[in-house]
Amino acid sequence: MGKDILNVAVVGAGYWGQNLVRSFATAKRCNLKYVCDLDEKLLAVQKKRFPFIKTSTDFEEILGYSEVDAVVIATEVGSHFRIGQESLEAGKHTYIEKPLASKASDGKVLVELAKEKGLKLMVGHLLEYHPAVRFLKETIDKGRLGQPYYMYTQRVNLGIVRQDENAWWSLAPHDISIVCYLFGSEPVSVAAHGQCYLQRDIEDVVFATIKFTDGKMANIHCSWLDPHKIRKMTIVGSESMVTFDDMEATEKIRVYDKTVAIKQDITTSYAEVISLRFGDIVIPKVPGGEPLALECRHFIDCVLDDKPVRSDGIDGLRVLRVLEAGQKSLKSNGEPISPEDF
Ligand SMILES: NC(=O)c1ccc[n+]([C@@H]2O[C@H](COP(=O)([O-])OP(=O)(O)OC[C@H]3O[C@@H](n4cnc5c(N)ncnc54)[C@H](O)[C@@H]3O)[C@@H](O)[C@H]2O)c1
Repeated sequence: MGKDILNVAVVGAGYWGQNLVRSFATAKRCNLKYVCDLDEKLLAVQKKRFPFIKTSTDFEEILGYSEVDAVVIATEVGSHFRIGQESLEAGKHTYIEKPLASKASDGKVLVELAKEKGLKLMVGHLLEYHPAVRFLKETIDKGRLGQPYYMYTQRVNLGIVRQDENAWWSLAPHDISIVCYLFGSEPVSVAAHGQCYLQRDIEDVVFATIKFTDGKMANIHCSWLDPHKIRKMTIVGSESMVTFDDMEATEKIRVYDKTVAIKQDITTSYAEVISLRFGDIVIPKVPGGEPLALECRHFIDCVLDDKPVRSDGIDGLRVLRVLEAGQKSLKSNGEPISPEDF
């Protein structure tokens, strides 16, 4: 974009927004100029942490400043579309926290608007920037698992219980984005079961199965009503299997040299012989780095150096379509629904 430093404004300084404020305030090649929130008390907290920022309760005022190159939106999901649309209309590169919007049709408008205006649109699919997930992606792409067959993820904890969205919309965007990123294939159906125990019509726990064009399959278990804090995934391939446990401090990834092979045995009249292989379990060294810092740096670099964004609007739209298909399936007793319908 012909500049060395990106001038950024963050809109929404709540539970997650305050992390984005810290990250953009301390990032290289970035000047965090403004922080905006409706809550004056939250703004005072941020001003105390980072005295150089200016604060405002009016995001439209911030959009009017020509010095602001990019806007980072960390408000509640229901306002992502309106603020995102106004930000793009005002000519600002725009980063929106996950999920991109509350419906796929709105996500599509944002993607088209960014394209029309020649602006970067990024969605906060944080885990696509996790060094361990990058390692898994390389492992799969280099064929070390053989043919990837299926994977399952668990994102469960006690809390945070949301009132404006269910556990599927709150927790699953991360898993859907990782599953699609790692498999690199298009989801064709989503079948989801869930139950509402704490609040009317808001699912606390969801089990969803996503099928892909090429026969791969993923199961996502998400819940805010669980005694354990688990952030784990398992990927099973034709040659080996791998687990990623984000709760482990250092040994996050384990590669299991285990597989099942089916051979034809001519000595037993061409019978099929199933053999199990139990090989080594390897704990590879994975590069470090805070995912949020890496994610924010990626956004800054993509805007300044005009590079493609990994978790771009199209990625965000794909996740939204899976979310909507899953939501419809939840209300249709687990019927498989195509994301293409949205
Ligand atoms: N990437 C992650 O791991 C992660 C984790 C948690 C939340 N999130 C996402 O971050 C977003 C925010 O979630 P949260 O938990 O921080 O919510 P929150 O309710 O704690 O914070 C939202 C903030 O936005 C402010 N706000 C709302 N409308 C505004 C407006 N028009 N102008 C200025 N400020 C406004 C509110 O006052 C509030 O302080 C959501 O999209 C959520 O899904 C991401």
